[in-house]
Amino acid sequence: MAVTTWSIIGLLALCHSSIAGYTKFPPGFTFGVATASHQIEGAWNVSGKSENVWDRLTHTRPELIADGTNGDIACDSYHRLHEDVEELVALGVHFYRFSLSWSRILPTGRIDYVNPDGIRYYNELLDLLAENNIEPLVTLFHWDLPQSLQDLGGWANPKMIDYFYDYSDFCFKEFGGKIKSWITFNEPYEICEDAYGDEKKAPAIDSHGVGNYLCSDTLLKAHAESYHLYNETYRPVQNGRIFISINSIWYEPSDPENSELVALAEVANQFKFGWFAHPIFTVEGGYPKVMVENIARQSEAEGLRKPRLEQFDAYWIQRIKGTSDFLGINHYTTHLITGAGVDPIAKSPSWLKDIGAVTTMEVGGDSASEWLRVVPTGFANLLRWCKISYNDPPIYITENGFSDRGDLEDYGRIKYFNDYLSEILNVINDDKVNVLGYTAWTLMDNFEWRAGFSERFGFYYVNITDPARPRTPKLSVQYYRELIDNHELPHFDRYKDPSVRTARRC
Ligand SMILES: *[C@@H]1O[C@H](CO)[C@@H](O)[C@H](O)[C@H]1NC(C)=O
Ligand SMILES: *[C@@H]1O[C@H](CO)[C@@H](O)[C@H](O)[C@H]1NC(C)=O
Ligand SMILES: *[C@@H]1O[C@H](CO)[C@@H](O)[C@H](O)[C@H]1NC(C)=O
Repeated sequence: MAVTTWSIIGLLALCHSSIAGYTKFPPGFTFGVATASHQIEGAWNVSGKSENVWDRLTHTRPELIADGTNGDIACDSYHRLHEDVEELVALGVHFYRFSLSWSRILPTGRIDYVNPDGIRYYNELLDLLAENNIEPLVTLFHWDLPQSLQDLGGWANPKMIDYFYDYSDFCFKEFGGKIKSWITFNEPYEICEDAYGDEKKAPAIDSHGVGNYLCSDTLLKAHAESYHLYNETYRPVQNGRIFISINSIWYEPSDPENSELVALAEVANQFKFGWFAHPIFTVEGGYPKVMVENIARQSEAEGLRKPRLEQFDAYWIQRIKGTSDFLGINHYTTHLITGAGVDPIAKSPSWLKDIGAVTTMEVGGDSASEWLRVVPTGFANLLRWCKISYNDPPIYITENGFSDRGDLEDYGRIKYFNDYLSEILNVINDDKVNVLGYTAWTLMDNFEWRAGFSERFGFYYVNITDPARPRTPKLSVQYYRELIDNHELPHFDRYKDPSVRTARRC
């Protein structure tokens, strides 16, 4: 009798919540929303800002941008930061993740000249946030490198370790009184693989299999030096925290029963996430063993004297290890590993060829972005893997979101948030993964890099044909606000697309 009653209650609970078993977030769990300087600020050539690599790319090769747009005006946040903050207040977020534009603050890229207007702009934003009790979470580098430093080789030049150190030092000193949470780099994979190993991101240096690995060497060292500077010099006075945001497409075997595919998916995850996480978050440090071995083997076959990726020496392994207070994760989607060998789209040499596996996109819900398939369970698997691989680190989700073409009734986005957040609750409760906070991408539709404005991820719709760049709240604003206010997933039935009828057996 008791058993039967409980089974019925269990069934009802399942039907009632339809997707999520858990709905309440743990006490202290925080919610925010993210943006990036180049994607929203505009004002590319005013008040002393210098040219960055995205200005250069969009002006010299506009055909690379899907809709021919650029970041010259973008959302005009440079002139509209009061509106931005009003939107943040309307959302009710605990924190706002934004990035500093290096070329607006230090136009030469070096600390020999400071642009006073850059300092003024960010202080104004920080003061507005403080007045509204919104905590800043500030990214030092979100892809908009000063062109002057790119002219010297950008992240392929080891001298960048010094330039990034000086820039970080300047920002900690200037803004550190108002900022308690720093992120050094946003998505190192995209910086190194897409910008120095491919043309997918600026500066679009297609040095596949070579430039990407020079970049990771420099970037990880630059990250570590910035961390140590903060840890030793600024943390004792400013009491903040500093970490890195690593992005991942999570790879799963197309057939979970096939042990070869299971092993290859692990290799792919080491190449993707482990490339930057392993040197920082493991006890042994350094690049993942399988990466070092695969690339050494292929480099030898190519007749090279040294591997294209060199393992760090003992000094740097030690220096890089442990340099992140949290594991920041940007996650959107899951792809599949379908076989061994060289992926048909892989160039030679390249990161993809070095993996030695064939990848395809997961069959899942579609978004406006070709690469973004909706696979909520993949997020849970990634989070469990991070807990195991990196000794149970405290985790902040620093980006997660969904693109459409700009729907005001953005049911697809709401469903995405609901389903991905449900998976986060599952791993927090069932697997004790230590997730402390969540950041939605993004505050408003913005310049989505090579997709221009054709793929829209925002809570607010931005009309880019109107010079005033008016922002209109989408339905997801109400959803996220309700979620944050109640510290609980809203009842999804109230936000379901009425045009989609789903058969329910309850
Ligand atoms: C700034 O760039 C705009 C194009 O976005 C151009 O029309 C304008 O002349 C430039 N201003 C200066 C001062 O160079
Ligand atoms: C950060 O500083 C503390 C206090 O000096 C020190 O114990 C710790 O080892 C440092 N962290 C790293 C990763 O060096
Ligand atoms: C965008 O702004 C333009 C110019 O003001 C206007 O004609 C158009 O109707 C607006 N579009 C939307 C979707 O609001």
